[in-house]
Amino acid sequence: MSDTGAPPDLGTSSYSPPPPPRGGKTGTLGALMRRKPVERLVADAGHGEGGSLRRSLGMWQLTMISIGATLGTGIFVVLGEAVPDAGPAVVISFVIAGITALFSALSYAELAGTIPVSGSSYSYAYATLGELVAWVCGWCLILEYGVSVAAVAVGWGQYLNELLSGTVGLTIPDVIAAPPGDGGIFNLPALLVVLLAMVFLLGGAKESARANAIMVAVKIAALLLFCGVAFQGIRAGNYAPFMPLGMAGVSAAGATLFFSYIGFDAASTAGEEAKNPQRDLPRAIMLSLVIVTALYCLVAAVAVGALPWKKFSGTEAALAGIMKNVTGQNFWAVLLALGAVVAIASVVLTVLYGQTRILFAMSRDGLVPKVFSKVHPKTGAPRANTVIVSLFCGILAAAVPLGQLADATSIGTLFAFALVNVAVIVLRKTRPDMPRTFRTPLSPLFPAIGFVLCLWMMGSLDLITWVVFGVWMVAGLVFYFAYGMRRSRLATDQK
Ligand code: ALA
Repeated sequence: MSDTGAPPDLGTSSYSPPPPPRGGKTGTLGALMRRKPVERLVADAGHGEGGSLRRSLGMWQLTMISIGATLGTGIFVVLGEAVPDAGPAVVISFVIAGITALFSALSYAELAGTIPVSGSSYSYAYATLGELVAWVCGWCLILEYGVSVAAVAVGWGQYLNELLSGTVGLTIPDVIAAPPGDGGIFNLPALLVVLLAMVFLLGGAKESARANAIMVAVKIAALLLFCGVAFQGIRAGNYAPFMPLGMAGVSAAGATLFFSYIGFDAASTAGEEAKNPQRDLPRAIMLSLVIVTALYCLVAAVAVGALPWKKFSGTEAALAGIMKNVTGQNFWAVLLALGAVVAIASVVLTVLYGQTRILFAMSRDGLVPKVFSKVHPKTGAPRANTVIVSLFCGILAAAVPLGQLADATSIGTLFAFALVNVAVIVLRKTRPDMPRTFRTPLSPLFPAIGFVLCLWMMGSLDLITWVVFGVWMVAGLVFYFAYGMRRSRLATDQK
């Protein structure tokens, strides 16, 4: 594979797309349902306005991108919120959430290997379900990526404060560490971490991947260190009763913990910068999920063994507290806070990366303005795109009390995952001839299970989250009908 951004050979060079069906839909309905042929998606791969993305990422770096985007606030913060529901059985909750993620991950792996482009589920939907659904999917991905960057950046600021108070005895005053409505004026740390990620991203995918790999190593080391130290504090009695609030508590905690798995799909946004995307993307997606699940279960098992489950209520930095309890020294808690600061920064970096690449793909298709697909000739990075997205996410993180908006991340993600499961089934029917480097086992059963699990999880989210989601969708549809539908490259090419 060259370094030039040439589209990978799908082994379909002799394939010519079938002519449009006679008497096919025309007008608005035809526009909404037009699909972008897979061959065209792949032929477009890498190419932006004025330059190409560079193929520089190997399997290992892709795996690190997915782990980077996944392992963060979920294990460092949300674990502490889930234990009061599940008790020691929080380990089972992690497994339940992991299984839900697994079915969708299998679908992502199949499509990432078959349609190795940067738009992730947006592009998969464009090839299978038509332009309107693709747009809706891309719009949901802005919730999964763009809004979650802001939410995660806010969590980063909280851990930074922990670290500063543990080391130099300083805390950043609320007035510059919280948005209006949350007791402050501006959340400076949240803005700073987004701008820092922007600087790495402007250097190019390879440089960002290198920085991310170091951060991933640090966060895995921090969690293993936690296990090593806290292991000594495990008391068998802490595991009983194992399920104090029954199965209902365990599954409620599972729904909460689903957040900790969001991000495994991030490698699929790097399809156009991967050296061998068909081979490596499916492997990276599956490998990252396996590594993350194993780490989550291990950390959770040690945590509930070392601290009675009732003591998790109201503890923000549960893991740091356990370290301190077991050793009696503040030093370990500070070390863990440092690990968390690095961990969450790498989520910001990789998720921001994913958002820029998704908008890159949408812009190349004409659905969002061209500025998002301009590539810098020297770095091979979409510069203007990176700056605009970073400023948007940074200001959102700094100035808006996120609250409910952060919950909207999960609903948007689950909707995109559900569509990916449908896309697998549709592509197997419409294009059985395509070479697939990875096949979801037992299709259509597994993708169907993945789809149902996503809808079930969406159903467990509260009404206000659905309202936010509805308003977001209406805004997206207005934008599509006012802009994207007419400027779509599929439309303009026909004129
Ligand atoms: N899974 C990511 C995290 O836990 C969003 O931070």
